[in-house]
Amino acid sequence: MEKRSKIKALLGGDKVGTEVTVMGWVRTFRNNQFIALNDGSTIKTLQVVVDFENTDDDLLKRITTGSAIKAIGKLVESQGRGQTVELQASTVEIFGDSDPEKYPLQPKKHSLEFLREIAHLRFRTNTFGAIFRIRHSAAYAIHKFYNDKGFYYMHSPIITGSDAEGAGEMFQVTAMDMANPHKDEDGNINYKEDFFGKHTNLTVSGQLEAELAALALSEVYTFGPTFRAENSNTSRHLAEFWMIEPEVAFADIHDNMDLAEEMLKYVVAYVMDHNPDDIEFLEQRLINEEKSKPQNERSPMALIEKLQFCLDNDFERLTYTRAIDILKNSKPNKKGKFQFPIEDWGADLQSEHERYLVEKHFKKPVILIDYPKEIKSFYMRLNDDQKTVAAMDVLFPGIGEIIGGSQREERLDVLENRMEEMNIPAEEMQWFLDTRRFGSCPHAGFGLGFERLILFLTGMSNIRDVIPFPRYPGSAEF
Ligand code: 4AD
Ligand code: MG
Repeated sequence: MEKRSKIKALLGGDKVGTEVTVMGWVRTFRNNQFIALNDGSTIKTLQVVVDFENTDDDLLKRITTGSAIKAIGKLVESQGRGQTVELQASTVEIFGDSDPEKYPLQPKKHSLEFLREIAHLRFRTNTFGAIFRIRHSAAYAIHKFYNDKGFYYMHSPIITGSDAEGAGEMFQVTAMDMANPHKDEDGNINYKEDFFGKHTNLTVSGQLEAELAALALSEVYTFGPTFRAENSNTSRHLAEFWMIEPEVAFADIHDNMDLAEEMLKYVVAYVMDHNPDDIEFLEQRLINEEKSKPQNERSPMALIEKLQFCLDNDFERLTYTRAIDILKNSKPNKKGKFQFPIEDWGADLQSEHERYLVEKHFKKPVILIDYPKEIKSFYMRLNDDQKTVAAMDVLFPGIGEIIGGSQREERLDVLENRMEEMNIPAEEMQWFLDTRRFGSCPHAGFGLGFERLILFLTGMSNIRDVIPFPRYPGSAEF
């Protein structure tokens, strides 16, 4: 095809006075004359002015919201308000019509719920265009951050034979005919006859494999899809989500916290730098949306202020034990306002508690460490108190847990004990234990939920709106 100019380049460039070709989708067509054209390169539209007196009526009728067109003409300084340049079209060609009676996206505001039902078209709205450009920038920034530090990008398997978190909640992978599966003498399904010769699942985390790589390459990270069959129908859980999992040899829990804070700040700064138009649009969107909410439910900060605040402040670091003290003596706990009241040390923290600490008590991002061993995974390093493990959760405003991680248990005997206590079948994990048998060393890592980070960056409130095609209980459309 002939070369086209991207609208982003035309709006910010020095092409005035030259003839250019643009291609995109019509957002609106006003007075039979003014096309607002968007090609996805920016949230902004280019005004294409049609010489309607010299244009065929049939063609004019086909310039409708949603249609795909090509326009050729001269780029000129704009006379009208709201744009710096416009295209005076000498020719307009229609690539694809869009019947205005049937096109589901009208030039008006649609609810997010409605747009979720037409996720195949929602990319064409300002809101989702902005979200997915930001999602791209954040992914790129993460790769850049780790690459520049000398980490290696490791591809962990998607189909695994292990349950990395020891938490169950996995999707099975099988090639057996489920109506007629192979059975053993006792009538149980015989996975030895299945495709892989064993029971397999979609991975819940690439951590264990990342540990294997880190104990040779010293600094690695994964960035891939992970899957959890937990039946949590919340605005913060997906059945398929993307996770970034760095794993670092010769590092402890403090190095781990430093890395997490540095990475989060890097990505926030990168996106603020590279997507200012998208962020400004989303900030305005949020302000408008919140106008309909009662004062006490509105966010205390606008989006840009919130992002800047995250950059400007050290994250608060404290132990689980101190957090429990704060929560126990907090107003909502005393007044019975928590759905899960905090009574004793040992309680698992719910998102209401995490958000209280971040949004009400410290009013900034928080890193909690040293959780009771009972509520955390088997691979986390046992502290000297024998009661807590060197776990770490990073908690963010509006979200709660955005990162979970730990220093890893590198001592073979302690790890084997923990596995036994937690009923993790050691015989299936010999490959993992080998790293502790041969050249074990202190190491640490964490997992960042990519969609939760995108929630923070975009100010959106439902995780289903920050991944192109969300998978959650009862839904795997598209
Ligand atoms: O805390 P999690 O379960 O930790 C792990 O999986 C470790 N193996 C990570 C590691 O140490 N390498 O999950 C890590 C993060 C959470 O903090 C959260 O942000 C996100 O993954 N997450 C989810 N995001 C969306 N939907 C879900 N169902 C999620 N479950 C966890
Ligand atoms: Mg966690």
